[in-house]
Amino acid sequence: MPQMLLSAFTTLLTLHVPTCITAFIASPQQTLKLNKFPTPDIPYTFRPAEFSDISDITDVIVDAFDPGPDWRYTYQFKDKYPAYHRECMRQTIEQQWDFFHDRDGVFMNVIEVPVPSDDNSGDQTLEGDNQKSRVVSIGLFDIKPPFTQTSETQPSSLSTFPFLPFHLAVNNQPPTSTHLHPIVTWPNCTAHLDANVTRAIDFSTKFTAAEHTYIETAYPQGQIYLQVLATHPEYDGHNFGATHCRWGMKLALERGRGEPVTLIATPAGYPLYKSLGYESLRNVTIGMLDGLEVLWYEVMRWGYEGDTWKG
Ligand SMILES: *[C@@H]1O[C@H](CO)[C@@H](O)[C@H](O)[C@H]1NC(C)=O
Ligand SMILES: *[C@@H]1O[C@H](CO)[C@@H](O)[C@H](O)[C@H]1NC(C)=O
Ligand SMILES: *[C@@H]1O[C@H](CO)[C@@H](O)[C@H](O)[C@H]1NC(C)=O
Repeated sequence: MPQMLLSAFTTLLTLHVPTCITAFIASPQQTLKLNKFPTPDIPYTFRPAEFSDISDITDVIVDAFDPGPDWRYTYQFKDKYPAYHRECMRQTIEQQWDFFHDRDGVFMNVIEVPVPSDDNSGDQTLEGDNQKSRVVSIGLFDIKPPFTQTSETQPSSLSTFPFLPFHLAVNNQPPTSTHLHPIVTWPNCTAHLDANVTRAIDFSTKFTAAEHTYIETAYPQGQIYLQVLATHPEYDGHNFGATHCRWGMKLALERGRGEPVTLIATPAGYPLYKSLGYESLRNVTIGMLDGLEVLWYEVMRWGYEGDTWKG
C-alpha cells in the first residue's frame, strides 16, 4: 500500500514538472549529440586543475597559443625572450590562480595523460607507481549568473580570462593569490619585455568591448561561458577539446535552466566548435594598429533556449 502511494505521488510529480520547464528539457537531438560525442583514443584522466599543475598549464597555454596571430601581434618580442615569456606567463597564472580557480562558478578542468618516465616534460608522478603523467589540455568554464539591466555590467580587466595576451600584458595588478611565493625577484615581469604594451592595451579594449556586448550582457537566463580551451600541440587530434566541451554541454543540460554554452572562438578553435554543433552568431573583427590586417573571432553558442524562455 505505501508503495502505491509513492508511485502515485511520483507520477503526479513527473506530470507536473515538465509543464513548468518545458523550454529547458534537453531535446532528444541534443542528448543524442552528446551521446555520440567523439572520445579520446589514448588513456587519459579528466579532473579539476590543481595548483601543482601550473607548470604544465603554462606549457599548454604558451605552446597552444603561440602560433595564433593575436599572440604574435601582442607578444611581439616573445621569440627574443622565450624563457622570460614562459616564466612571466607562469607567474601570472600563479598570481591569478585564486581568481580563475577558486571563485564561485569557475571551473578549470585538465586532461592528464601518462608519459614515459624518461620524458622530462611532465613533472608529476601518479600515486602508487613510477608512471609519470602530464597535463596536456585545459578547459576553463565560467558559469555566469542571469544578466539583468541592473546587473553589474562594468567588466573589470580581470572579468575575462587572464591568460589571453591583452590581459596579461596590461596586467600590473598586485598579486592576488594566497599561494604566492613571498618575493619574486627574477625576472622583472612588469617590464613586459616580451610584449608590445601599446598593442596589448588597444587590443584589450576592443576585445573586452566585444565580450561585454556579445557575452556578458547577452543572456537573461545566464550562460556557461567557455573562456579558454587549449591543448598542447603535441597532443592535438585526440578529441581532448571535444571532451572539455562535452563537460560544459552536459552541465548545461543537467542544470536545466536554458543556459547556453557560449564562447568566442579563435580561428584555430572555430572548426572544432562548428563540428560539435555550435551555432555561429557573429564574426568579430579587431583591427591591428599597423592597419594591415584584422584579427577575427567567432561568437558561438550551443543549447540556446532564449526564444522560449519566460523568465
Ligand atoms: C621592473 O620594470 C619596471 C618597468 O620597466 C621598472 O619600473 C622597475 O624599476 C623594474 N624593477 C626592478 C626591480 O628592476
Ligand atoms: C570572419 O571574417 C574574416 C575577415 O573578414 C574572415 O577572414 C573569416 O573567414 C571570417 N570567419 C568566419 C568563421 O566566417
Ligand atoms: C608597438 O606596436 C605599435 C603598433 O603596432 C608600433 O607602431 C610600434 O613600433 C611597436 N613598438 C615597437 C617597440 O616595436
